[in-house]
Amino acid sequence: MSNWTRVAAADDCPAGQLLGVDAEGVPVVLANVDGTICALRDECSHEEYALSDGDLEGDEVVCVYHGARFEACSGANKALPAVRPVKSYPVEVRDGDVYVDVG
Ligand code: FES
Repeated sequence: MSNWTRVAAADDCPAGQLLGVDAEGVPVVLANVDGTICALRDECSHEEYALSDGDLEGDEVVCVYHGARFEACSGANKALPAVRPVKSYPVEVRDGDVYVDVG
């Protein structure tokens, strides 16, 4: 079941930046990879810290706490200490607003 929720204005998440948002109670981190906005659950798979506290380096989200890395658009884990991916969500930008489908 889809459940599209407006979470931000696209201008609030410029290229190269992360933005933590709430999608109907689901913590989500938006990542703007060269103009394409992707969305992951805003919780590291290593420990339960917010990925939005970290940084976006290229197409990877870097957790500020212990250095795990995740592919920003798929959530695939790319560096230890994370051994599991994080969930990714579909994103649409409509009329300058960002919508995420948290299902
Ligand atoms: S909480 Fe993210 S790397 Fe440990």
